[in-house]
Amino acid sequence: MELRVVENDNGIDSWMAVNLTYNAALKQINTKLEILNDEFQHVHQYNPIEHIKSRIKTPESIVKKLKRHGYESTIENMVKYINDIAGIRVICSFTSDIFRLADMIREQKDIRVLAVKDYITYPKASGYKSYHMIVSVPVYLSDRIVDTKVEIQIRTVAMDFWASLEHKIHYKFEGEAPEDIKNELIECARLVSDLDARMLSLNEEIQAISQGGYRKEQQGREA
Ligand code: GTP
Ligand code: MG
Repeated sequence: MELRVVENDNGIDSWMAVNLTYNAALKQINTKLEILNDEFQHVHQYNPIEHIKSRIKTPESIVKKLKRHGYESTIENMVKYINDIAGIRVICSFTSDIFRLADMIREQKDIRVLAVKDYITYPKASGYKSYHMIVSVPVYLSDRIVDTKVEIQIRTVAMDFWASLEHKIHYKFEGEAPEDIKNELIECARLVSDLDARMLSLNEEIQAISQGGYRKEQQGREA
């Protein structure tokens, strides 16, 4: 790995310091999401989050991305231009959970939303669906506070299943997958969307029935 050390505005001057800061940011967002999930369980009796995955981008792929965008490999450039050094993927059960979670993240006072890409409402031509947020979170170090960027990707289990297969295919064919495979992937994405929609309405039906049961119970008690 070759990342030239130049002190930047935040005073981050080495890969080690950068790594530590991004790791701290990931931990903070992780904890926030876990708390929101627990609260949701308490209020609504279900967990919107199935699971969370997080990762720090490898120095190799940071350097590759900097080169791709025509920037010199410096710590300053990576902090400034690479938004997905720290990445969190939040996997939900239902599409409605995605927007609910995004709103809850938006409402956190210490999180600043820098950018949003809604590939749920506007899927990519490939068929890719996911909700992306680039946020900034303050990391409290011993002598300074460092605003640190984290990429949050929120998607359903089904969308995640599709994206991981598509990623493998993309990687295998170096982005040049044969036309029939691309078309098959687009068709699979359509099936995924259909499945998500049906699972969501099935869940709403179940919830309506159990709430109806609850109401009947209440009425029985009140009578
Ligand atoms: P990158 O340079 O790849 O980070 O993309 P970007 O800066 O244009 O941002 P975008 O929000 O489009 O993509 C960010 C990330 O979303 C990617 O690094 C992937 O993890 C994921 N992603 C975006 N498009 C696709 C896609 O078509 N297929 C899959 N499997 N993942 C995607
Ligand atoms: Mg990326």
